[in-house]
Amino acid sequence: MLRRPRRNRQSSAIRAMVEETTVSVNDLIYPMFVMEGQNLTTEVKSMPGIFRYSLDKLLDELAVIQDLGIRSIALFPQIPEAKKDKYATESHRQGNIYLESINAVKNAFPEICIMSDVAMDPYSADGHDGIVENGQILNDESLEVLAKMAVAQAEAGADIVGPSDMMDGRIGYIREALDDKGFINVGIMAYSAKYASAFYGPFRDALDSAPKFGDKKTYQMNPANIREALVEAELDYLEGADYLMVKPGLAYLDVIKTLNDNFNIPIAAYNVSGEYAMVKAAAQNGWLDGTRTMVECLTSLKRAGSKVILTYFAKEYAELVK
Ligand code: PBG
Repeated sequence: MLRRPRRNRQSSAIRAMVEETTVSVNDLIYPMFVMEGQNLTTEVKSMPGIFRYSLDKLLDELAVIQDLGIRSIALFPQIPEAKKDKYATESHRQGNIYLESINAVKNAFPEICIMSDVAMDPYSADGHDGIVENGQILNDESLEVLAKMAVAQAEAGADIVGPSDMMDGRIGYIREALDDKGFINVGIMAYSAKYASAFYGPFRDALDSAPKFGDKKTYQMNPANIREALVEAELDYLEGADYLMVKPGLAYLDVIKTLNDNFNIPIAAYNVSGEYAMVKAAAQNGWLDGTRTMVECLTSLKRAGSKVILTYFAKEYAELVK
């Protein structure tokens, strides 16, 4: 036998030497949840190890994760039901918990990269990502709200805004709004191929942001489609996106690879709440090794072509490799 592939697997040193894909903590963005109040830390039931923090507690936690080497976070707000309305006006109200938090994090941890979330659902009485009229999600009317939100977040100190709403034309609209206000260096990470997925369940529990009626299938993509992902990605690229994201990640590795093969800007993957919850639930039952499964999931996302990975595992991974 001339070719014996096992020779390159025979020791830990050799295996490490020929390893093609290694996830670095630098690749990771840690999604975190903030809520109103003081001295509050509540675990998200369906996401063991993940918490919603009041701002004071969020800042405490940031000191911990920064020490672990995490350099980027994605922040999401939980908004009290009483502050939600049809037009998500709370989303761009000066001094709301989200903008206050972005500002406080930026001041306390200027080196941490903050990615913000641009979508109406946490603030919408309808629980949708855009304005609802007679059961329809209005596209162009929603762009104005999204742009106001993005500008307010940039003013508060966001480094990257992340439109997760899937309205048509939003990347260009937001880019122009940011540039008009002088925020030429605020990046846009476009949720480009965002699928209408069952894997978002635990996240919607965390934020109480589930749609009050219907589903998100008229704006989020059909999980069966990949050619459409190329259309979305191309539009976002042409409209000025700095990163293209695929969401969820694990069930869409082919989409990640296709975008990475076709676009020369960084591809991101969102290892979403349901993907995290599945691993945690099985590990808690003793049905699989949670740590090894985590590493395998993150490695597969990077191997498929995502340079950037948003993952609830970020802290655990940083602890593991430290
Ligand atoms: C909505 C949004 C969702 C997530 C991030 N932003 C879910 C949804 O469309 O309802 C999901 C993230 C996760 O599941 O971890 N703007």
